[in-house]
Amino acid sequence: MNQLYGKIGLVSAALLLIWTGLACAESPNLAPRKIEITRGYTAEASKCISCHADKTPGIIEDWKLGKMGHAGVSCYDCHVVEADSPMASQCSGLKGGKIFISPMVSSKTCSRCHPTEVKEFLKSGHADLSRAAVYDEKKAGGKLVALQLVHEGGGFMGVDSNSALNQASRKSGCQMCHGSEVELGPDNKPINNSWPAGVGTLYPDGSVGTCTVCHTRHQFSVAQARKPEACASCHLGPDHPDIEIYLESKHGQRYLTEGEDWEWDSAPGAWQPGDYTAPTCATCHISGIGELETSHNVNDRLKWDLMHKRSEIRSGVRGDGVKGEKLMAKVCINCHSQSQINSTSKTLDDSVALYNNYWDGAVKMKKELAAKGLLKKDAWRDGYQELMYYLWHHTGRRARQGSAMNGPDYAHWHGFFQVFQVYKDMQDIYNYRIKNNKIEELSTVMSSGPL
Ligand code: HEC
Ligand code: HEC
Ligand code: HEC
Ligand code: HEC
Ligand code: HEC
Ligand code: HEC
Ligand code: HEC
Ligand code: HEC
Repeated sequence: MNQLYGKIGLVSAALLLIWTGLACAESPNLAPRKIEITRGYTAEASKCISCHADKTPGIIEDWKLGKMGHAGVSCYDCHVVEADSPMASQCSGLKGGKIFISPMVSSKTCSRCHPTEVKEFLKSGHADLSRAAVYDEKKAGGKLVALQLVHEGGGFMGVDSNSALNQASRKSGCQMCHGSEVELGPDNKPINNSWPAGVGTLYPDGSVGTCTVCHTRHQFSVAQARKPEACASCHLGPDHPDIEIYLESKHGQRYLTEGEDWEWDSAPGAWQPGDYTAPTCATCHISGIGELETSHNVNDRLKWDLMHKRSEIRSGVRGDGVKGEKLMAKVCINCHSQSQINSTSKTLDDSVALYNNYWDGAVKMKKELAAKGLLKKDAWRDGYQELMYYLWHHTGRRARQGSAMNGPDYAHWHGFFQVFQVYKDMQDIYNYRIKNNKIEELSTVMSSGPL
C-alpha cells in the first residue's frame, strides 16, 4: 500500500501543476497557493506521507479520499511551521532535523490558500464571539453563565474553581463546541486538555478558528459540510435544538425521505435547487443559491438575535439584521412565493414579540423582588431566578428558534407552552414573596425537569 501511494503522489503532482495554473488565471489573489504546493512535493514532504502511512494509517487513508489530498496539498503544507513559531515542535520522525511541525492547525494556515472563506468566517459568531461566550464573563450573558461555569464543576460543594476537576465539565462540554484558549507546555505541545477544541479556538500564535468542525479532518469535504449532520454536533439539545427543529420541519421531511439521492458533491458555489429538493442548514445559512454567493459568515442572513435574553434586531458585531432579513428572503424565493415568505417572516416577528413580552414581565417582577431584598444571592438556589434562566435559555429559545425554522412541535410544546408554564410558576413565587415579605424556604423548582 505504501509503495502504491508513492505513485499516486507523483500522478497528483502532475495534475496539480495544471490545476494551479487554472486557479491563478481565474483568481489572482490565490497565487500563493502555487508556492506552498510546490514545496509539498519535496523529498521532505514525501517522507511525512510514507512514514505516517505506517504510523497513522487512519490519517493517510482519510486524507487520500479528500479533494485536497487529490490536489496534492500534503501534511507538509498544513503542519510545518517556522522554527520560531510558539507552536513549533518535532514529532519522533523529525527529531534533530531542521523541520518543525505543530499538531495544531488554525484557520490562519487555511487562509494562505482560502483567504476569502477565512475572512468571512472571522467576522462571524463562530470565531471570537463563540470563544468569548465561555471565557469572557461580561460578554457571556452575565452572571448566570459565569456561575454555571463554576457551579457545574462542583464549585457549590467546594471543588476548587482552578482545579482540573472543576474544569472537567467545561473542558468536556462548553469548550468542545465553543472553543478554547490553547495552553502550551515547555515543549510547545498543548496541555491542560485545552486542545483540540471547538469552533472559536484561540491558538498560541494569536490566530483563531477551527475549520474542521464542519469539514472534518483529513477529508475536508464540502459535501459533508452541506449536510445537516455537520451542524448537529453543536446545534442540538434543550437550549438550541436546531437539528431537532430541522428534522421535524417540512424541509427535514424531504431531506429524510429523499436526501440519499441528492447531489451533494457539486462544485463549490454551484450547489443549486435540482441538486436538492429542500434546503439544509447550509443552504439557508452558508451556501450560494440563486443570486446569493456562498458566505462563511453565518450571521449575514439573520434578522433577529434569537439566543440572548431579549431578542433584538441584529446590529454591531452580531451582524446587520435589516440587511440579513433581505438576504434570507433571497434564499426562500428560489422555491417559495412572496406570499409564503411574508407570512413566515411575520409569524417569526410576532413570536419574537410574544417572547419579549414574557421576558419583560419577568424582568419587571425581578426588579421589584430585588428592591425588596427578596432575591437570594446564589441564583441557582433561588427558584425565581432559576426559572427565569429556563424561560430565556431553554423554553424561550426553543419557542423562537422553532418558529424561525418551521418546527411546530418546538415552537409550541417544547416552546411557548412551557414558556407559559414557567412564567405562571414565576408569578406564583413572586406573589408569595411579596405577600409574605420573605423568600420561601425550599425551592419549588425541580431543576432539570422537563424544562
Ligand atoms: C489542509 C490541511 C491539512 C493537511 C493537508 C493535513 N492536515 Fe493534519 N490536521 C489539520 C487540521 C486542521 C488538524 C486539526 C488541528 C486543530 O484542531 O488544531 C489536523 C490534525 C492532525 C493531527 C493530530 C490529530 C489527532 O487526532 O491526534 C495529526 C497527527 C495530523 N494532522 C497529521 C497529518 C498528516 C500525517 C498529514 C498528511 C497526510 C496531514 N495531517 C495533512 C490539517 C491538515
Ligand atoms: C520516520 C517517521 C516520521 C516522519 C518522517 C514524520 N513523522 Fe510525524 N510522527 C511520527 C510518529 C511516530 C508520530 C507519533 C509520535 C510522536 O508524536 O512523535 C508522529 C506525530 C506527528 C504529528 C502529531 C504531533 C503531536 O504532537 O501530536 C504531526 C502533526 C506530524 N507527525 C506531522 C508530520 C509531518 C508534517 C511530517 C513531515 C514534515 C512528519 N510528521 C514526518 C512519525 C513520523
Ligand atoms: C497550500 C494550499 C492549501 C491550504 C494550506 C489549504 N487548502 Fe483547502 N484547498 C486547496 C486546493 C488546491 C483545493 C481544491 C482541490 C480540488 O477541488 O481539486 C482546496 C479545497 C478545499 C475544500 C473543498 C473540498 C471539496 O470537497 O470540494 C475545502 C473545504 C478546503 N480546501 C478546506 C481547507 C481547510 C479547512 C484548510 C486549513 C486547515 C485548507 N483547506 C488549507 C488548497 C489548500
Ligand atoms: C453542544 C455544544 C455546546 C455546548 C456543550 C455549550 N454550548 Fe453554548 N452555545 C452553543 C450553540 C450552538 C450556541 C448558539 C445558540 C443559538 O443560536 O441559540 C451557544 C450559545 C451560547 C451563548 C450565547 C452566545 C453568546 O455569545 O453570548 C453562551 C453565553 C453560551 N453558549 C455559553 C456556554 C457555556 C458557558 C457552556 C458550558 C457551561 C456552553 N455554552 C456549552 C453550543 C454549545
Ligand atoms: C459552519 C460550518 C463551516 C465552517 C466552520 C467552515 N466551513 Fe467551509 N464550507 C461550509 C459549507 C456548507 C460549504 C459549502 C458551500 C457550497 O455549498 O458551495 C463550505 C465550503 C468551503 C470551501 C469551498 C469553496 C467555497 O467557499 O465554497 C472552502 C475552501 C472552505 N469551505 C474552507 C473553509 C475554511 C478555510 C474554514 C475555516 C475558516 C471553513 N471552511 C469553515 C461550511 C463551513
Ligand atoms: C463545533 C460546534 C459548532 C458547529 C459544528 C456549528 N456551529 Fe454554529 N455555532 C456554534 C456556537 C458555539 C455558536 C454561538 C456563537 C456565539 O457565541 O455567538 C454558533 C452560532 C451559530 C449561528 C448564529 C450566529 C451568531 O450570532 O453567533 C448560526 C446561524 C450558526 N451557528 C449556524 C451553523 C451552521 C449552519 C452550521 C453547520 C453548517 C454550524 N453552525 C455548525 C457552534 C457550532
Ligand atoms: C429554510 C431555511 C433554514 C434552514 C433549513 C435552517 N435555518 Fe436556521 N434559521 C433560519 C431563519 C429564517 C432563522 C431566523 C433568522 C432571523 O433572525 O430572521 C434561523 C435562525 C437560526 C439560528 C439562530 C441564531 C440566533 O439568533 O440565535 C441558528 C443557530 C440556526 N438558524 C442554525 C441552523 C441549523 C444548525 C440548521 C440545520 C439543523 C438550520 N439553522 C436550518 C433559516 C433556516
Ligand atoms: C430548495 C427549495 C426550498 C428553499 C430554498 C426553501 N424551501 Fe421551504 N419548502 C420547500 C419544500 C419542497 C417544502 C415542502 C412543501 C410541501 O409541504 O408540500 C417547503 C416547506 C416550507 C414550509 C412549510 C409550509 C409548507 O409550505 O408546506 C415553510 C414554512 C417553509 N418552507 C419556509 C421556508 C422559508 C422561510 C425559506 C427561506 C428561509 C424556505 N422555506 C426555503 C422548499 C424550499
